[in-house]
Amino acid sequence: SLVNPGTLLTEAARTGRGIGAFNVIQLEHAEAFVAAAEAVGVPVILQISQNAVDYHGALRPLAAATLAVAGEASVPAVVHLDHAERAELVVEAIACGIGSVMFDASRMSYADNVAATAQVVARCHAAGVAVEAELGEIGGKDGAHAPGARTDPRQAAAFVNDTGVDSLAVAVGTSHAMTTHDAVVDLELVAALRAAVPVPLVLHGSSGLDDAGLTAVVRAGITKVNVGTRLNVAMTHAIRRVLDADPAVVDPRKYLSPARTAMTEEAAIVLRRLRSGAGE
Ligand code: G3H
Ligand code: ZN
Repeated sequence: SLVNPGTLLTEAARTGRGIGAFNVIQLEHAEAFVAAAEAVGVPVILQISQNAVDYHGALRPLAAATLAVAGEASVPAVVHLDHAERAELVVEAIACGIGSVMFDASRMSYADNVAATAQVVARCHAAGVAVEAELGEIGGKDGAHAPGARTDPRQAAAFVNDTGVDSLAVAVGTSHAMTTHDAVVDLELVAALRAAVPVPLVLHGSSGLDDAGLTAVVRAGITKVNVGTRLNVAMTHAIRRVLDADPAVVDPRKYLSPARTAMTEEAAIVLRRLRSGAGE
């Protein structure tokens, strides 16, 4: 069932749990991630990125489908707008019934980021919608972010105070779209940020973590763990296996069904690692 995103994250942060946040591109992604969360018995965040919206040409159809899947889940589920750089898209998300958004002004200067984010926060909070923002570029995305970027704990605390955001994405060593699992996270920095920042912390680019890394970041103080690429790798490999084995296949269900199963299994692996990070 759909739950209040703010409460889900603050409660998870309070109890040291990690919540998996997985990127939805197609209906099959949403179905797979809810199936995984139900199998493991944990909450899940289904997130739609601005990139995915632009791919479809509109937010509403994918948002409606994802909200419906989340609403029918037997575990707590949240639908989140991810990496929104256009404030109009945030407004549209609110109108669609999405309860949580990331406003990504991380390409702006610090002062512009604060001003733009504070405006989005005012608008979202008036509608009861939670806001995640990002401070300190996270490497890799569109080549616009420096790979070695790090978030300064003092600046992070000031940013949260100045903007009123409900959660904060931090740069601590991961970068987006990694297909290897060898990212090295600065766990001491995570702990310092956890101590300095009063809201739940978010890690982007978590596909780059190995099993031990997933456990370690939760232990160090990350609450929302964003994973996209790793699940698409599982999906695409499953599709390629079917198509390679039988060139006569034309029914999409013949390859999307194993693709959905592969995403379910991969998401479940991640959710189990996050749970072990919480010491459960
Ligand atoms: O916002 C989405 C995540 O940061 C996904 O990153 O595709 O590198 O796992 P990833
Ligand atoms: Zn991201």
